[in-house]
Amino acid sequence: MPAQEANKIVHLSHPSGAKVEIALFGATVTSWSVDGKERLFVSEKAVRDGSKAIRGGIPLVFPIFGTKEKIQLPQHGFARNSYWEYIGLLTDNDEVAVRFALKDNQLDSQLRKGWPHSFRLTYTVTLTAKSLKTVLVVKNEDEDTFEFNTLLHTYFRIPDISKVAVEGLTDRKYIDKVENAAVSTEERAKVTIASEVDRIYCDAPDSLHLYYGGPDSIAIEKTGLKDTVVWNPWIEKSKGMGDFGDEEYHNMVCVEVGSVADWVKLGGGATWTGGQTLTIQ
Ligand code: BG6
Repeated sequence: MPAQEANKIVHLSHPSGAKVEIALFGATVTSWSVDGKERLFVSEKAVRDGSKAIRGGIPLVFPIFGTKEKIQLPQHGFARNSYWEYIGLLTDNDEVAVRFALKDNQLDSQLRKGWPHSFRLTYTVTLTAKSLKTVLVVKNEDEDTFEFNTLLHTYFRIPDISKVAVEGLTDRKYIDKVENAAVSTEERAKVTIASEVDRIYCDAPDSLHLYYGGPDSIAIEKTGLKDTVVWNPWIEKSKGMGDFGDEEYHNMVCVEVGSVADWVKLGGGATWTGGQTLTIQ
């Protein structure tokens, strides 16, 4: 892919002043601003030349989460590392939207070998005055069923991690990746972060709330997706990531809605839809 492709960005503005930017590389939302304030975190060290996934914004995880023993694909799959096709602009009442698509024949042969299925992904990013909606549609263009995981890996920009609280996860089981995948139950009404956190909350509620210590807060609504990952790399992991500043963990938290604990099974010819709406309140 020519280097200039890597920098192709679609800009979308709402009459209210809200704005969003989406890189064709990964169809990664790299900026969302409401009331003149940036809501998403992108690392100052993020690589933007198309050689690796963009560290921040909303990378799209598909068709695997993490790595899988028998599937030869890069961590979190290929959607965030592929160039998507820009389909067009849609407007309706008080919202504006843009749509992107990715088909198996746009992947290089190595990736197609790693996941040998015919598919079409459609990703729609919709902006209103106060909200951002990102919806993924997966169409199985094979005759046989295939299985996938997917996740919207949202990096929220926050002034100070010590002020962050995620509300709505009480009593939910989580797989703790920091504790060798031990399964525990969340007891807190508000999840706060004071060390490395990497948890898959299974069957998480569709409505969560992110308080970040600012004058407003963010409602996170998911549809068609079962789980929610909460991630902050903290001190040591931050130092180990070449595309992330040592101190940047103070200014980001990932709350990632997805279906990752179990495979989603999609029959031949069938279509699946999942997404999220983030609303400033
Ligand atoms: C999270 C995972 O979703 O993504 C973490 O739960 C992982 O384990 C993180 O470290 C970042 O992954 P990557 O591939 O973007 O470095």
